[in-house]
Amino acid sequence: MTVRNKVVAITGGAGGIGTAQTKLLAENGAEVWVLDLAADRAEALAKEMTDMGWRVHSAGMDVASEENWKAVVERIVAESGRLDAVVNNAGINIRKPIEEMVKDEWMKMMEVNTCSVFLATKYAIPVMRRQGGGTIINTSSICGLIGHMNTPEAYTATKGAVTLLTKSVAARYGKDNIRCNSIHPATIDTPFVASLMADPAKKQARIDEIPLGRLTTVDDVANAVLYLVSEEASFLNGVNLPIDGGVTCY
Ligand SMILES: NC(=O)c1ccc[n+]([C@@H]2O[C@H](COP(=O)([O-])OP(=O)(O)OC[C@H]3O[C@@H](n4cnc5c(N)ncnc54)[C@H](O)[C@@H]3O)[C@@H](O)[C@H]2O)c1
Repeated sequence: MTVRNKVVAITGGAGGIGTAQTKLLAENGAEVWVLDLAADRAEALAKEMTDMGWRVHSAGMDVASEENWKAVVERIVAESGRLDAVVNNAGINIRKPIEEMVKDEWMKMMEVNTCSVFLATKYAIPVMRRQGGGTIINTSSICGLIGHMNTPEAYTATKGAVTLLTKSVAARYGKDNIRCNSIHPATIDTPFVASLMADPAKKQARIDEIPLGRLTTVDDVANAVLYLVSEEASFLNGVNLPIDGGVTCY
């Protein structure tokens, strides 16, 4: 996959999925910016990769902050000269059913999971248009395509909004050679689902849902993102790509 010298920003880049994406893109020659609320973990990952000879930078930021987005995009362009791809990967899940959730929790999830994608897109597009194109990859979920009886309704709502935000950005900005696609993983064993994975019965129930008989891995997601960022995906725009072993097929 051709991603050499592309400047790629990955939000939540120091988390479970983000770390795998950072490593795979950097090892394929991209210059990666790890953007994460956990500035210390982002910095440690950037150092680990830089020590091995790859080009990885870090910046602490809150993806729900408009000021942070404005500043970080300016910094990336100032230091790396361009911004070819943004992978909107940061996310949270407050695990409560709708009847127990309070409005502040609902709004917090909207801010981090959905508003972040709006802000990233708003600040990346002028840069990408100026340089002749770019690509945005939004992390939704199988829960941005279907309902799930054991997943908070707020999570499904935030991820469903990302699914159609992706298509509308793809439709409007394709003429600027800006591609926008989303990915939809099934359950992955990361810190995000630590409590679920700690319960063997719940973990097995998630596996049993999936026609291919296993959970999604961080490498499954990183490989899909490598492709979506690459030149080989240059005609993919507005795709909502499940990475789910077929769980959304029935
Ligand atoms: N793990 C799964 O089962 C699963 C399945 C489908 C989709 N997803 C999605 O994948 C994405 C990454 O999940 P993960 O499993 O790697 O989770 P994770 O908890 O391992 O990593 C998430 C990262 O996002 C960062 N983050 C959280 N809030 C932030 C904020 N406000 N600003 C900046 N960074 C912030 C965290 O510090 C962390 O490093 C999320 O959007 C999640 O919804 C996860």
